Amino acid sequence: MRIILAPMEGVVDHLMRDMLTRLGGFDLCITEFVRVVDQLLPRRVFTRLCPELLTDGKTSSGVPVRVQLLGQEPAWLAENAARAVALGSPGVDLNFGRPAKTVNKSKGGAVLLKETETLYQIARAVRAAVPADQPVTAKMRLGYDDASLALDNARALVEGGISELTVHARTKADGYRPPAYWPQIANIRRVVAIPVIANGEIWQPADAIRCRQESGSADIMLGRGALAQPNLAARIVHGGDPLAWPAVLQLLLQYSDYQVADDVRGLYFSTRTKQWFSYLRLQYPQAEPLFARLRLLRHSHEIVQLLQQELAVQAA
Ligand SMILES: Cc1cc2nc3c(=O)[nH]c(=O)nc-3n(C[C@H](O)[C@H](O)[C@H](O)COP(=O)(O)O)c2cc1C
Repeated sequence: MRIILAPMEGVVDHLMRDMLTRLGGFDLCITEFVRVVDQLLPRRVFTRLCPELLTDGKTSSGVPVRVQLLGQEPAWLAENAARAVALGSPGVDLNFGRPAKTVNKSKGGAVLLKETETLYQIARAVRAAVPADQPVTAKMRLGYDDASLALDNARALVEGGISELTVHARTKADGYRPPAYWPQIANIRRVVAIPVIANGEIWQPADAIRCRQESGSADIMLGRGALAQPNLAARIVHGGDPLAWPAVLQLLLQYSDYQVADDVRGLYFSTRTKQWFSYLRLQYPQAEPLFARLRLLRHSHEIVQLLQQELAVQAA
């Protein structure tokens, strides 16, 4: 079994990847998407989104980080994929799941699930541009309005040359409403001969077991569940209990110690911590009252102070 940390725009950045992969259990991370429109993007775009490119394409605990691209133009996706890999990304992942509207005539993500031929053209162009020893992978939802093209789309991507497919087992129209339809992943697995990674609604180790049974997939991808319960991947692999609340508080304080670029210092920690709390509340009842106080604070040092106080109370 492999466990992959899901791409989450605006949430799972390199600091979060560093923190979560240190807790163990993860085999691979996928970055937030790089939007490709009609140009070859400069190196700095890739290294900003994936600073791990500067450290051999791995987090500090040695977990590989693959760059994800989003776009609709096969030729531009191909050029940018080749650049991502040349910069050190271990392969490249293509996003066919993002429920976004067209921006400046540029689309990408889930809307392409209505265009099976485009999926094929993108996969083929990107596969041809990326060295053969580097994987080209893709992530899709079951469909846009419905799942009627799920099998055709998966087949098209495989014919185009992808070597692994992650399936978020919902349509775009389903949004994030539970359930995730894991058995539909099994239907896709029956028609393609590549590894299919199951994704969606894995919040607890028991969900991982059920998801693997119902999808038949060995490999899984964790998104929100890994933020709600930071050691979820490690628990799935090794067993054990969820991190105790004081350990979570220590993680939050560790998060405050990370160095961030000067232009985002200050706001970064407070914004991201509040965002992280919105997930932690799902697992930890203790997060709720603390969040009520924390959300009124703006400055990082105030938040750090509050977290330290809470930790002291817990230790007493
Ligand atoms: C805030 C947020 C941002 C996301 N950003 C991306 C993204 O950049 N690329 C992508 O392929 N999926 C993205 N996703 C989808 C997740 O990777 C994943 O498929 C989804 O959350 C379902 O998995 P989960 O139930 O384990 O969270 C995002 C999801 C959320 C909630």
